Amino acid sequence: MNKIFYIANWKMNKTFNDSESFINKLVPTLDNADDKEVVICPSFISLAKLDSINRFDESVRLSFGAQNVSDQKYGAFTGDISVEMLKDTLSKYCIVGHSERRMLYGESDIQINKKIKLLIEFGFVPILCIGESLEQRKNNEGEMIISNQLSSCLRDVSTKRLIIAYEPIWAIGTGQSATVNDISQMNSNIKKQMNKLGYMDDQFYILYGGSVNIDNVKVLKTAKHINGFLIGGAALEVEKFLELIKR
Ligand code: PGA
Repeated sequence: MNKIFYIANWKMNKTFNDSESFINKLVPTLDNADDKEVVICPSFISLAKLDSINRFDESVRLSFGAQNVSDQKYGAFTGDISVEMLKDTLSKYCIVGHSERRMLYGESDIQINKKIKLLIEFGFVPILCIGESLEQRKNNEGEMIISNQLSSCLRDVSTKRLIIAYEPIWAIGTGQSATVNDISQMNSNIKKQMNKLGYMDDQFYILYGGSVNIDNVKVLKTAKHINGFLIGGAALEVEKFLELIKR
């Protein structure tokens, strides 16, 4: 698959007004190339309010995603957002297993696996984040960690469309991205592992995330098996984000 995704993970940034003004600037300048898909993952609140505005023209190639979802269908889970609630929004995608959620909220592969199953049941495309820590990398455990994360997060999962985002923890928000070689090597490992799990090459996309910016995106695009990027910091300013997409 030759498509390139540019997925903006806004994390806990931008009020609804900020989100709306970003999108108002973004939409008229987006080129509607078939091989590019731009996805914005704002806060749940912005997702819901953007939906109520409902003025997105079908011809605009802009999609939306959530940053998280509950691993339970409904019930006494204070503060959580269920997959059925996500259906009330514009989202088509949902990030799961981001390292911030794994580290700060103790999310396990078992929970991530439940989230992925629910998302698929309700027609969403999961964006599964995987990645090794600096210590694991130093101990040469990166490939093993990634393979284990894939097999546990995707246990008994069957779907025709899945996005895997390789995000080495040491590269997220540090300004130090992985090299093309690092990414190519890991992507080959991811592809091998996905094939082993029964996925054909046209059933999954592999993205890279971790300090992607205007200066390195062009080079990172040359990595093997790469289908795009999950972008944090460099997706917060509309001009910079647009420039990054164009490179
Ligand atoms: P970053 O974040 O681009 O700011 O490194 C990426 C991510 O956390 O998805």
